[in-house]
Amino acid sequence: MRVPLIVGNWKMYKIMNEAVELVNEIKRELLDFRKAEIVVCPPVTNLSSVYELLMETNIGLGAQNLYWEKEGAFTGEVSALMIKDCGCEYVIIGHSERRKYFSESDENVNKKIKASLEVGLVPIMCVGETLEEREATKTIEVIKQQLVGGLKGFSLQDLGNLVIAYEPVWAIGTGKTATPTQAQEIHKVIREWILENFSSELSSNMRILYGGSVTPENIRELMRQEDIDGALVGGASLKSASFVGIVKNSVDE
Ligand code: PGA
Repeated sequence: MRVPLIVGNWKMYKIMNEAVELVNEIKRELLDFRKAEIVVCPPVTNLSSVYELLMETNIGLGAQNLYWEKEGAFTGEVSALMIKDCGCEYVIIGHSERRKYFSESDENVNKKIKASLEVGLVPIMCVGETLEEREATKTIEVIKQQLVGGLKGFSLQDLGNLVIAYEPVWAIGTGKTATPTQAQEIHKVIREWILENFSSELSSNMRILYGGSVTPENIRELMRQEDIDGALVGGASLKSASFVGIVKNSVDE
């Protein structure tokens, strides 16, 4: 049984007092909610203060990025251990905004996943096609290429905790969600790829999240799809009402 996982990606939003306010509101509504696993990923500047509020609760903490080197003269970067030290259990890797604005390659994604696994962080690896790629019917090819590059060199044991997020780039922050059928089609491709390249056990246990304009209204239908196990939520995770709504609607009452 795959436990549903709802992850809030706050991106570059929320200064300290706003982060504290949001997390307190989420806590008020979702403390002791056990039907889904809940994770929030604030900007790195707020990780420690949010951790203080979430410590020993059912709500987990994640970061949005890391750098793969252990330490050194890498001005402005943050290592996997530093993220872990702030109380994170999860880290988002290879988000399309990082691929697009910071030129992250599949090889970079691969190194970042390796660095996170080495310190015991759970990587949430993002894959997804652009609108041009979808229109050129290259979606499956692109997703497989990202999987091959991102997961190169890992063993079956390494990936026991890996989470994959399918986020079509054209659906991120646009209000255009993939239809449940479109999303399910790609989730199935991903699960089958894991089966062919690793094992059937890993494939059936792996949580594959959907991301891209998820709302409290569309989450139900997405979650009804066989291979959708949760959501990576951007815009709607910035307000407690919508994030809480998504978490609650992701499972049957
Ligand atoms: P969105 O973002 O929910 O605002 O579309 C999703 C994401 O970027 O993870």
